[in-house]
Amino acid sequence: MSTGAFPGVRPRRLRTSRAMRRLVAETRLHPAELVLPVFVKEGATEPAPIGSMPGVVQHSRDSLRKAAVDAARLGVGGIMLFGIPTVKDAAGSGATDPDGILNAAVRDVVAEVGGDVVVMADLCLDEFTDHGHCGVLRADGGVDNDATLERYRDMGVALAAAGVDLVGPSGMMDGQVAAVRTALDGAGHTDVGILAYAAKYASAFYGPFRDAVESSLDGDRRTYQQDPANGREALREVALDVAEGADMVMVKPAMSYLDLVHAVAGTVDVPVAAYQVSGEYSMIEAAAERGWIDRERAILESLTSIRRAGASTILTYWACEAAGWLARDLTGR
Ligand code: PBG
Repeated sequence: MSTGAFPGVRPRRLRTSRAMRRLVAETRLHPAELVLPVFVKEGATEPAPIGSMPGVVQHSRDSLRKAAVDAARLGVGGIMLFGIPTVKDAAGSGATDPDGILNAAVRDVVAEVGGDVVVMADLCLDEFTDHGHCGVLRADGGVDNDATLERYRDMGVALAAAGVDLVGPSGMMDGQVAAVRTALDGAGHTDVGILAYAAKYASAFYGPFRDAVESSLDGDRRTYQQDPANGREALREVALDVAEGADMVMVKPAMSYLDLVHAVAGTVDVPVAAYQVSGEYSMIEAAAERGWIDRERAILESLTSIRRAGASTILTYWACEAAGWLARDLTGR
């Protein structure tokens, strides 16, 4: 710890110029740490804007290919795919159909940028079920944990067959990481990794995402996603997922849960990701649109804060735009 006091000690000396601040910055962002979440809609012929997420679209398969190439050119580290099927049913059959939209889009993106960008897919049934829940339902309407695991196993194998690098189980079912790991290994996909949505909260900040994927959910996910009141429970969830074989773990959302990003990063020895979710995106976009905050500064400050808290990977809808800014700023001029 430094000793001494004013007037000899003046911390402001290290803030006198942009060059000085650059020199002593403790946290830097790099495009390789950013992951772009994308939406792809079955049957779409053109990208369609999402009202509650200005600047984000539901892609067609073609426009997604182009977006993936852009992301690769900008040095973005990964791309996380979400599919929007035309037909939904109780079991979420589209998720395991080899020609379903998510599996088809994974094949497209792998063909386009595989090897340059890590291709990831959300492993969850909610986009594919007509009731909108992340799993299959029991007769009494509750989500059936163990029957859902069977669906996740099949979905993991289908995504792996399509060429995915990492699957992201996001349904918060107990035992989901072990179930998917066993299924992948059993099918010979030992190199496909798992980015576990380990501490995922039942959050109001997913609101715009539900628009983006045209969610059918009526109700909430509080019987499987975590209660925002609980922090220690997140450490338990993370420990279980690591024990079950997670290669990376995620905290989600990011900004209201930075205490957990920090705690998790100090606890586990696998990479820690944080998901800056749709509501975090839309709040900044909306305030910037009204001229209430400086858009670029607010975005970079939010990303820097998530990094500073301890996340080594950030899922953000601004991945490409931020990567462009970071490249521009590299010279310091
Ligand atoms: C579930 C899933 C959700 C998000 C990512 N995966 C929605 C939910 O849990 O309700 C939210 C992402 C965001 O808000 O940006 N498949």
